[in-house]
Amino acid sequence: MADTPQPLTCKIGPSILNADLSNLEKACVQMMDSGADYLHLDIMDGHFVPNLTFGHPLVKCLRPKVPRAFFDLHMMVAEPEKWVNEMADAGGDQYTFHIEATNSPLALVRKIKEAGMKAGVGLKPGTPVEEVVEVVEEVDMVLVMTVEPGFGGQSFMSAMMEKVEFLRARFPSLDIEVDGGVGLSTIDACAKAGANMIVSGSAVVKADDPKAVISQLRSSVVKEL
Ligand code: DX5
Ligand code: ZN
Repeated sequence: MADTPQPLTCKIGPSILNADLSNLEKACVQMMDSGADYLHLDIMDGHFVPNLTFGHPLVKCLRPKVPRAFFDLHMMVAEPEKWVNEMADAGGDQYTFHIEATNSPLALVRKIKEAGMKAGVGLKPGTPVEEVVEVVEEVDMVLVMTVEPGFGGQSFMSAMMEKVEFLRARFPSLDIEVDGGVGLSTIDACAKAGANMIVSGSAVVKADDPKAVISQLRSSVVKEL
């Protein structure tokens, strides 16, 4: 977290996992033109999660195509230490690793920052929120997963809102991100619990009017800030 607490702002970060991956540039540009504050890129290695997506070579190709987009890299990988330098070189802005995937979270956070990126830490639905408390003061964001990581289009787990409430009560200026099944029918629960960074995949990329969805997601969050 920053030394001087900044007022919380709402940020909407579409996940392009369920977009047309054969035309990722178009999908990313469309999201930015629709009012996205950042892009959430889901990196999966087939080990930490039972699915495979893409790695740093793709991030590097995408970088110049959407130069003004902030890239939040959701690293659903075993050994997250391995890819820090490559992802920084590829143009990642934030490296969000999973607490379950490392034995040395503080050393990993240091490595991410030394590489010039912001650091985020995520937790799976089965991981108690207490496990991230020791690193909260060192990271820029905590990601509370609201589905089992691995696939887009799953159902939102409302029980995860307790974790968001726990963190918001203790860390009023912390950026708290929710990811998984977040759309127009679940955003109010996220907003009320205290989330301010909203990842939304299918609800945005499959919408006829992504701009309207992003704007409605934002209004729900802003009301509760
Ligand atoms: C799931 C990914 C999410 C996912 C979100 O493992 O981390 O970012 O793409 O997609 P929706 O919003 O469709 O659940
Ligand atoms: Zn994600």
